Amino acid sequence: TELKNIRNFSIVAHIDHGKSTLADRLIQMTGTVAERDMKQQLLDAMDIERERGITIKANSVRIEYPAKDGQTYILNLIDTPGHVDFAYEVSRSMQAVEGSLLVVDASQGVEAQTLANVYQAIEADHEIVPVLNKIDLPAAEPDRVRENIEDVIGIDATDAVEISAKTGLGIPDVLEAIVTRLPAPEGDRDAPLKAMLVDSWYDPYLGVVVMIRVIDGVIKKGDQIKMMQTGASYRLDKLAVLKPQMIDIPELGPGEIGVFTASIKQVRDTKVGDTITHDKKPCDKPLPGFKPSVPVVFCGLFPVDANDFESLRDAIEKLQLNDASFSSEMETSAALGFGFRCGFLGLLHLEVIRDRLEREYDLDLITTAPSVVYHVHMKDGTQQDLHNPADMPDLTYVDHVEEPRIKATIMVPDEYLGDVLKLCQDRRGIQLDLTYAGTRAMVVYDLPLNEVVFDFYDRLKSVTKGYASFDYQFTEYRQDNLVKMQVLVNEEPVDALSMMVHRDRAEQRGRAMCEKLKELIPRHMFKIPIQAAIGGKVIARETLSAMRKDVTAKCYGGDATRKKKLLEKQKAGKKKMRQFGKVEIPQSAFISALKMD
Ligand code: GTP
Repeated sequence: TELKNIRNFSIVAHIDHGKSTLADRLIQMTGTVAERDMKQQLLDAMDIERERGITIKANSVRIEYPAKDGQTYILNLIDTPGHVDFAYEVSRSMQAVEGSLLVVDASQGVEAQTLANVYQAIEADHEIVPVLNKIDLPAAEPDRVRENIEDVIGIDATDAVEISAKTGLGIPDVLEAIVTRLPAPEGDRDAPLKAMLVDSWYDPYLGVVVMIRVIDGVIKKGDQIKMMQTGASYRLDKLAVLKPQMIDIPELGPGEIGVFTASIKQVRDTKVGDTITHDKKPCDKPLPGFKPSVPVVFCGLFPVDANDFESLRDAIEKLQLNDASFSSEMETSAALGFGFRCGFLGLLHLEVIRDRLEREYDLDLITTAPSVVYHVHMKDGTQQDLHNPADMPDLTYVDHVEEPRIKATIMVPDEYLGDVLKLCQDRRGIQLDLTYAGTRAMVVYDLPLNEVVFDFYDRLKSVTKGYASFDYQFTEYRQDNLVKMQVLVNEEPVDALSMMVHRDRAEQRGRAMCEKLKELIPRHMFKIPIQAAIGGKVIARETLSAMRKDVTAKCYGGDATRKKKLLEKQKAGKKKMRQFGKVEIPQSAFISALKMD
């Protein structure tokens, strides 16, 4: 296909503003998929994505569109993940296209996540076409939202396309706008091959599938190619385009987007952002800005039933086939037995993986407190990366600890602003900015990532009745007075409840934790002390009183010897329990104990 007849684009939208519905419509109206094959929300392949309403893996579709100018265009849509945890993937897929449709719900307005993605599109030099969706709704206010887009994002919205992805109204205008307003790609067909690895995933039938965007040169089936960052070399088995099912194609030239398979064993061997070239005749330099995505949030995953450990291992391995950014390492815990320490790109990523393990693999899991990676600087001048608070070295050897900080952007209707500021303040936040656009406020905070990883989203949602939107980006590691707080139940440290806290808040956290555990741990036959401690010094304590089960109640009437025997048995039982320090802590206690209010 000639470059001038290609348009590559992505859709930027806040969750629920209609990205998937619009994509479906574009596919349907161009006859890319026969009507009877049209499943609703075709692009969100995985059930979980559909259910949770988020798009996790980037997907793409090639659409053929006969435009009003009489020419047929190839439109390549790349579906980007809409969440901040996948910021790096978003930024790579943005580099692979020349333009974006900015979809905004005309009854709502611009949200924080939209903003972050739009900035990435702007950074990637995209031409941006604003699209006002849901104008069929009585509550739609296209003029207000147009102004909102101009105020908040600062792009011209005069020519925003008004549509209803639901009824199909305005879809032809979107197709025309893509052709007339977005630029055609550039590239040199005669130059050595240079293509960007945009995404990859594991297909149970085909193995690893790699999606690429060709910059220069031509790639053909059978070619021997090389990945410039990993250095690995492969022979192409299959070359195809997505419509959205795979259709074989003999070659892809500059500006084109497609997929290949090459007997690649693991998704791990394919790095998003890598440059693909010919083994024999490589291009002179790789694409700039390559960086592999690294996990930033860690937590332990343990099976509730120890017999499920093998199933958990299998399930984790299967999920990793498709998600190279999710890491795992075996871990043992005195309280929880055998499990895994897992690393994620962010909180949502963690939740999605945990949900899939529980649902698709039918596992009951205990999740320990999510923790960020701390930089521990030792007195001897060395530095350690701390992934698990339980592994924190003895304080006498530690010089100082640094924690990751983020810049958080929150958009909220002004009546909830006070509560949001208080929440951020409570989480050791430093306010950086506060601006208004209409009746909505935009606040920017510098926050410790650690204070955000557990229940910040939940709290934010509850104090704003769901009206706030939130986004963040990592800024830097910064030193602070951070210590490990241990929790001891019946004198034994429960490593799953260890956490890093700010020294000034340790007492308060410790007290809250002990009080909570007292509520959450069922009473036993013996008294249970619950303590919080820092480096051996107890800073808070509660006692769970014993429950006395009257075993003799079972014996009706007088048999005194039987009564005595039973009481002795009870005593022996108590002793045994105490001896092993066996306290049963229900799974829900771990989760609830770690939530703060
Ligand atoms: P994620 O996939 O969750 O990121 O959301 P999305 O942006 O893809 O939104 P999706 O297409 O799933 O639409 C969200 C909801 O809005 C669905 O219930 C749609 O049926 C509805 N919706 C989408 N477009 C329109 C529209 O034009 N009018 C109306 N009334 N509803 C719409």
